[in-house]
Amino acid sequence: MEANNIESLHLTINGKRLWNQLMDLGKIGEEDNGGVTRTSLDQKDIEARKWFLNLLEQADLSPYMDAAGNIFGQIIGKNPELPAVLIGSHLDTVNSGGCFDGAMGVLMGVEVLCTLKEKGIQPERTIKVVSLTDEEGARFDYAFVGSTALVGTEGADKLKENLAAATDKEGISYLEVMRQASLEGEYFNQINPDRLELAQVREKDVKAYIEVHIEQGKVLENEDLAVGIVTGISGGEWAEVTITGEAGHAGTTWMNERKDALTAAAECILEIEKIAQDSSGSVATVGKLEVKPGSSNVIPGRVDFTLDVRDIDNERRENTIAKIYDSIRAIAADRGLRCEIRPVQSLASVMSSPSVMKAVKDSLQEIPYPVYELPSGAAHDAMVLGELTDIGMIFIRSKSGISHHPDEWSSFEDVALGCEVLYRTTLKLL
Ligand code: GLV
Ligand code: MN
Ligand code: MN
Repeated sequence: MEANNIESLHLTINGKRLWNQLMDLGKIGEEDNGGVTRTSLDQKDIEARKWFLNLLEQADLSPYMDAAGNIFGQIIGKNPELPAVLIGSHLDTVNSGGCFDGAMGVLMGVEVLCTLKEKGIQPERTIKVVSLTDEEGARFDYAFVGSTALVGTEGADKLKENLAAATDKEGISYLEVMRQASLEGEYFNQINPDRLELAQVREKDVKAYIEVHIEQGKVLENEDLAVGIVTGISGGEWAEVTITGEAGHAGTTWMNERKDALTAAAECILEIEKIAQDSSGSVATVGKLEVKPGSSNVIPGRVDFTLDVRDIDNERRENTIAKIYDSIRAIAADRGLRCEIRPVQSLASVMSSPSVMKAVKDSLQEIPYPVYELPSGAAHDAMVLGELTDIGMIFIRSKSGISHHPDEWSSFEDVALGCEVLYRTTLKLL
């Protein structure tokens, strides 16, 4: 069945309503180039949160916000003490990203809850849609804040410590920004970075977490499929590296007298690329580089760069990271420079739960639509939630595989079909 025959599929969900909401939300933070920027708790993210809270209120989904700024809508089940089903993703974006990454998964959750309500279905267990605070980490180079608080991964005190240490480019700490956000009025007054333990949910309260996301790759497009079942998500390690040499005059310092931090960093970056290439599976990226003092006629005395290493195989990823760290230290030492490596965040890869995957598969067969499975190279909140509960993800075809970019796109037909799969999957889990 081709997805563009959508009219013949008799979908239960309201695809047009979902699409219109997605396009409306995409206007918040939209820039001239068509990109969308809503980084955590910036003015546009706060505007999007208010828009979302209003949507939940209009849909009579009893919204609330928790201490970490996660926003929930819900239908209370007939049997509220049963563990709840959670559908979610995030509303924040990277700088100049697209309007699908995150937002689509959250709005699909709303559409599922609205459809249940319209059909007069009160499920046995409670169902919630959640928008998780800061999946992207674009503003503070610190990601998964909402999901980490929800799961209680590293403990509330440690998370608070990390939020105090993380600063944006203006030098304002995450903690301070959260405190400011708590003054935004109703709902926001629940944000409390000093009591993040209040956001933690218990394992016994959640049955499963499902996230729908654009694929951000070309696999589904190449297979000519609108929807795929995610088998697992690659783990990642994120670190910051500082190379310290000696700044000096570009005209008067002989080449053999230099301690150039940038040439050392350049050698490190090429070596990182080679180590990942030789690993047959890991990917490694240096995406951000800061050169100091940053003058054309001064030898760079200090370079800070970020490191992002991913792999679905945890052991291989750890191996790749160890090799990268060793080579950075060796390159710095060879050149007589100092280096400091600060691991920032680390997440193990997570496998989807067989029972959630089966519910997605059965839903596809019911429609009927071909069943296709693929892994996720991108990170998602589902990785963090995987420490708490059964997780599953549904991918929607991305045009040309483009994402984290203004041209990010999935078609109306694919989004509607994906939401139908989510609705049917959810019914099976409820
Ligand atoms: C999240 O988008 C990531 O994979 O970095
Ligand atoms: Mn993203
Ligand atoms: Mn995302």
